[in-house]
Amino acid sequence: MDQGTPGELAGRHILLGITGGIAAYKTPDLVRKLRGAGADVCVVTSAGAQQFVSSTALQAVSGRAVRHSLWDEAAEAAMGHIELARWADTVLIAPATANCIAKLARGQADDLLTTLCLATTAALVVAPAMNVRMWQHPATQSNVALLAERGAHLLGPAEGEQACGEYGPGRMVEPADICKALTSIDPGQAVLGPHATDPADNSLAGVNVLITAGPTREPIDPVRYISNRSSGKQGYALATEAARMGATVTLVSGPTALPVPPGVKRIDVLSAQDMLTAVESQLDQTDLFIGVAAVADYRVAAVANEKIKKTASTRDGITLDLVTNPDIIATVAATAGGPITVGFAAETHKGLEHARGKLERKGLDMIALNDVSDQRIGFSSDANALTILWSDGEQQVPMQTKAAIARSLLSKVVELFNPRLSVRSPTP
Ligand code: PMT
Repeated sequence: MDQGTPGELAGRHILLGITGGIAAYKTPDLVRKLRGAGADVCVVTSAGAQQFVSSTALQAVSGRAVRHSLWDEAAEAAMGHIELARWADTVLIAPATANCIAKLARGQADDLLTTLCLATTAALVVAPAMNVRMWQHPATQSNVALLAERGAHLLGPAEGEQACGEYGPGRMVEPADICKALTSIDPGQAVLGPHATDPADNSLAGVNVLITAGPTREPIDPVRYISNRSSGKQGYALATEAARMGATVTLVSGPTALPVPPGVKRIDVLSAQDMLTAVESQLDQTDLFIGVAAVADYRVAAVANEKIKKTASTRDGITLDLVTNPDIIATVAATAGGPITVGFAAETHKGLEHARGKLERKGLDMIALNDVSDQRIGFSSDANALTILWSDGEQQVPMQTKAAIARSLLSKVVELFNPRLSVRSPTP
């Protein structure tokens, strides 16, 4: 068994919770790697985990007695469960079953591990492992999204062949990768509650932010149009978070079913041309422009005034001539003295290559690559994952709720462009 890179986790107190999945057999190796990287590890097993991995093996590799019950008098006398919750700077649950994730989402505390999770202020890191359909079930997805929203860190699941013989996402991330991921997670980063926003984060105070969101509709005739699957959720989440961070936010929105976020001014539009007109009307008061909208690249050249009927001449099909729509974000980026511009790139293949191409071609300051070939994220889903690209760097933002993604993206904008933002919006 390989050990982790010495020192990477030196001084860390990791409480490893193991729940009842077949991947539990990998946990002695995980403990070895965590300790090899310098961490002090205390293992807590659920009743299910004890069916898959022996306490003797875990005790041998961790150098500590394995805890599994709230009612173990000797163990409680040595270090009570509240003390244990305080001792940990990181609670890592690997593998985390669907049942464990559901209990964490509900705040249920019916065994030692879930009780510790409620009692601790440590960072919570969850490495799910389960059958692919259990993972894809809407109940699990909504539980995972809730945990992410509260600030939990999700590692995986990885995709591949499963112990049950099926294929897809559901495998526990490998011990070496879990160990590596922990090095970039701040210890003691508490789960803060429904919105993990720092209430004191006013880093966009005085900044005027203009965001486009949702789809556009390009009419064919009075009853038909060309559109796409954008729900507006990601753009609205950005508008909500930017307002929370103190910005004055205007949202130019294509047709969505979403309510106006608190404190945000919304301008409703339908087509790409309407969206451009609305954006241009706001541009001279905009410091930061974020183009999240899925704008139609083409529109119908000649929109019919009346409903197109199926007649003898159209029965075998019709041809629609499409013309190119204006590129809204490229127009904004090319405006002299214009705002900082952040685009999104929804891609199904060669994502990095296409996104970097758009960053350069459209003259943007930053672009967020959204891999929409992954059905769990992107269009209409509640979760998302991005790769943020800028002229000389890039950063992955792992799968989280769209609100958490919005916070990460805005923090990166502040980090990279704060000097330019402050010059544009000097504090009075
Ligand atoms: O709305 P959701 O359901 O939450 O889904 C979110 C999302 C998948 C729509 C979002 O995360 C996303 O990826 N948005 C960009 C979608 C898109 O149209 O990408 P694009 O690669 O075609 O465009 C690149 C950039 O140019 C985008 O910033 C887009 O707003 C902008 N653009 C594109 C065409 C055009 N004519 N004008 C533009 O401004």
